[in-house]
Amino acid sequence: MLAVSACLAFGVSAAPASNQADVSGQPWMNASLSPDRRADLVIKQMTLDEKIQLVHGTGWGVLTPGSPIPERSNFGAGYVPGIERLGIPDINLADSAVGVRMAAYQSRYATLLPSTLGAASSWDPEAAFLYGSVIGRELRAQGFNMSIGGGVDLMREPRNGRNFEYAGEDPLLAGTMTGYLIKGVQSQHVMGDIKHYAFNDQETGRMVYSAEIDKRAARESDLLAFQIGIDIGHPAGVMCAYNRVNGVYSCENPWLLTDVLKDDFGFKGWVLSDWSGTHSTVEAALAGLDMEMPGDDGYFGKALKQAVLDGKVPESRLDDMVHRILRSMFAVGVIDHPVMPRRVVNPFRGRRDARRIAEKSIVLLKNEKQLLPLDASSIQSIALIGSHADVGVLSGGGSAQVDAPGGNAADPHAGGAGWGETVYFPSSPLRSIRKHAPEATVTFDAGTDIAAAVASAKKAQVAIVFVNQPMYESKDRSTLSLPGKQNALVSAVAKANPHTLVVLETGGPVTMPWANRVEGIIEAWYPGIGGAQALANLLFGKVNFSAKLPATFPRDESQLPHPQVTGIDLPMVEGKDGSKMRPPFEVDYNKAGARVGYKWFESKGLEPLFPFGFGLSYTSYAYSDLSVDADGGSATLTVKNTGQRAGTEIAEVYAVLPKASGEDYKRLVGFQRVTLDPGQSKTVTIALNKLCLSIYDAKKDAMVHIPGIYTVYAGPSSAKTPLKATFAIKP
Ligand code: NOJ
Repeated sequence: MLAVSACLAFGVSAAPASNQADVSGQPWMNASLSPDRRADLVIKQMTLDEKIQLVHGTGWGVLTPGSPIPERSNFGAGYVPGIERLGIPDINLADSAVGVRMAAYQSRYATLLPSTLGAASSWDPEAAFLYGSVIGRELRAQGFNMSIGGGVDLMREPRNGRNFEYAGEDPLLAGTMTGYLIKGVQSQHVMGDIKHYAFNDQETGRMVYSAEIDKRAARESDLLAFQIGIDIGHPAGVMCAYNRVNGVYSCENPWLLTDVLKDDFGFKGWVLSDWSGTHSTVEAALAGLDMEMPGDDGYFGKALKQAVLDGKVPESRLDDMVHRILRSMFAVGVIDHPVMPRRVVNPFRGRRDARRIAEKSIVLLKNEKQLLPLDASSIQSIALIGSHADVGVLSGGGSAQVDAPGGNAADPHAGGAGWGETVYFPSSPLRSIRKHAPEATVTFDAGTDIAAAVASAKKAQVAIVFVNQPMYESKDRSTLSLPGKQNALVSAVAKANPHTLVVLETGGPVTMPWANRVEGIIEAWYPGIGGAQALANLLFGKVNFSAKLPATFPRDESQLPHPQVTGIDLPMVEGKDGSKMRPPFEVDYNKAGARVGYKWFESKGLEPLFPFGFGLSYTSYAYSDLSVDADGGSATLTVKNTGQRAGTEIAEVYAVLPKASGEDYKRLVGFQRVTLDPGQSKTVTIALNKLCLSIYDAKKDAMVHIPGIYTVYAGPSSAKTPLKATFAIKP
């Protein structure tokens, strides 16, 4: 008994029974053969029923109370039983966008990483790889062999409830960061995926809306982010989205799934539907869907078997589905390196990794009169106000919700986090700040009573107001304003104390009517379990800021292509199952086309509050000497640290395509982090992404370089590009 409870206390739950049979003599177990050959060898041995078994899950399981949980399921979001006699293991899938979901459900622990949008602010592929490897490491330890994170939908709608689990508005940045994240997951022999394919760029009406977009704009925006992510990360899975694209459900859209993804991108893995995102058997199978998830809607089980027997779906298509699944399992190593659960996740290692990523993710947006860094040896008093900064940091909700160790730090209660609950993680800014300035008086006021907050701000040298914007899957915000009375709180505190700093914990961009009245602004995003330590290290200058915005911060909603979230005011109607839902509607993505974010602002001549690619640090940099290869393959430039502190600058390279492109805006085509001591200069050569220098030619149905003059710009942000050079592509 003692042994059992000790085990549970350390978060080790009973492992699911293994289905690994003795596989000696099975030629596909020869790891020197290619994954494709190995998959083919297995398929030759499989019965029709075994093939069908592999192409759908077994139901909602733990996600829906009352749903059956199969014996060997590892209590994740999805489960596909393996084929024991052939040595093919079960696939246990877990939601894990920003850390492993529902870990507490099985008395496990999972590290909460900064939001992926935050991590994208690092513009650091190494940080993204580390991010993914933490997720892969912890999934493996918990007995999962597939991650269903990897969100890369572009930020067309800054009020989208899921922006925090995506990677911003630019295809190159988002695709690169997500690709390296997937690489990190798969480095742990855990299969990764990328989602939600495609144009699931808002949550309002996600089950019913149709994203209307022409092929060129599609290929040069969201689909380009997927293409880059897939090229880099080679994910095992692509999760197709709930919404329709140009009228056809994503999960039965032959243009999206077969023409673009499989034929053109050359994606070798399998397409799995979002949970209950499958709407047909024959159409979906023929369009390119390879797996129905979670599997209890009945499209790919018996119905698919019958469709194969009736010749409506050729058996070769079923074989292709199975091939894609098996070859991915071999390629990532989940068969050669089966998961061995019963290991305890190391929370300290996880927190250290999360903190390191957060230090590169938190963006300094304003720092006047040298408010920062705070001088630990001389500062006497600091007033912290708002957002539960005494106990924790905010996290994002929905299927990306990670369970907070010990429960919600701001609202302790029994059981895991409820859907849509605002959950704070136990990483206390108050405690971390006190640790850095032990001689100072550091107070906390909840910020719920503005008069009390003002009184506490008046007594301190510096006031730090923490403000928040909780975001969840399945719900968008209707405005970019901070919720509640937070704007009034900041304005009142700023009036009371001239040295006011605002720390934002938001899922994405927000408006800041008080921006001119405060001395400092920091965007901390949802900073993860190491968030408070990272923030304190940055505030006190132990670490220099280096992050830059992965998305434009508008001045107000009128600057957006859609000043109101499309469909948000449509009255609910009764759906087929009796539930309330919005009637089908269209979202006009042709309005902005490929001009997502900063491209829209530039083409419309709009000045945002903070531009894409912007971020300050405790030092300054100068740019010089840009040159570009004759074929536009790379750009070379020099960055100098002209300040007093060491730092890392993100050098950004943009291009305006030849006139024939019809474009009136810059595109990001390359970037690199450059670490410099005070006074040091470095000349760096930055590869320019070929796809980002291409346009989609509808006649050729291909991404092509058009002839003409390409103008290349470089500098510290999308709005500040002091260097210019050109190269030409001859007809
Ligand atoms: C629906 C979400 O859209 C998807 O991202 C998630 O992976 C599944 N539910 C499973 O939880």
